[in-house]
Amino acid sequence: MIRKCLFPVAGYGTRFLPATKSMPKEMLPIVNKPLVQYGVEEAIDAGLKEIALVTGRGKRAIADHFDISYELENQIAGTSKERYLDCIRNVLEQGTFMMTRQRQMKGLGHAILTGECLIGDEAFGVILSDDLCLNHDDEGVMAQMVKLYNQFRCSIVAIQEVPMEDIEKYGVIAGEEMGDGLYRVSTMVEKPKPEDAPTNMAVIGRYILTPDIFDILRNTPPGKNGEVQLTDALMTQAQNGCVLAYKFRGKRFDCGSVPGFIEATNYVYENIYAEGSA
Ligand code: G1P
Repeated sequence: MIRKCLFPVAGYGTRFLPATKSMPKEMLPIVNKPLVQYGVEEAIDAGLKEIALVTGRGKRAIADHFDISYELENQIAGTSKERYLDCIRNVLEQGTFMMTRQRQMKGLGHAILTGECLIGDEAFGVILSDDLCLNHDDEGVMAQMVKLYNQFRCSIVAIQEVPMEDIEKYGVIAGEEMGDGLYRVSTMVEKPKPEDAPTNMAVIGRYILTPDIFDILRNTPPGKNGEVQLTDALMTQAQNGCVLAYKFRGKRFDCGSVPGFIEATNYVYENIYAEGSA
């Protein structure tokens, strides 16, 4: 059974400067809820209630967000405004939160390896909160992936087809289709040029990883952009055993970019947000 979900949240958020100068990019709100909370809710809904945050300098607001604010509770308890706290109270009641700090930014693979002390020797989920995945009438993306893990017991990456001109922003897979949008990965490349991309199937920020990934990451040399790439470690896993790629059901917004962030905001406001709940 998967219990833990790792959130790499140490990145700088350069594209949102100056908003992210002293505020973590993961705390930027989509309407009234910080991006990272959407991810944590998706994990908890999938049964992953132990949340492992790999944070860094300047990220204290995230730790504070997932804790009680006594002053606020005291001020608004018993008033009509109390309902605004319902959704974060739900998260705090259900989840437990642990964190460690990544001291140097050496890539996603390095962030995952930094989280080993929180995960230990068990399979775990990973959510990149920049990728907002919504499937509000149905199961969340992580819940869909947990079901697959329970069946196949190997690492799984979420994928989506993207236009070839965007492929350079993503990890890309190729593999043999096993049916139902599920592929057995044969190739994985981090951020290839369109002419080098094996397909247009891009990795989206949802993963389930088996714990052997840690040893593989320790032995993975820096790759694209001089960073330790999770994609490279997954390629090793695929060569040694099995990695699956899954075309998930749901919508995904690239909230690491301003247009994606605005699109997500409009979508949530029009389709999900209701004052006092969300
Ligand atoms: C990371 C991964 C990449 C993946 C992407 C999904 O890249 O390295 O393989 O496709 O997340 O959002 P980043 O966007 O952090 O540069």
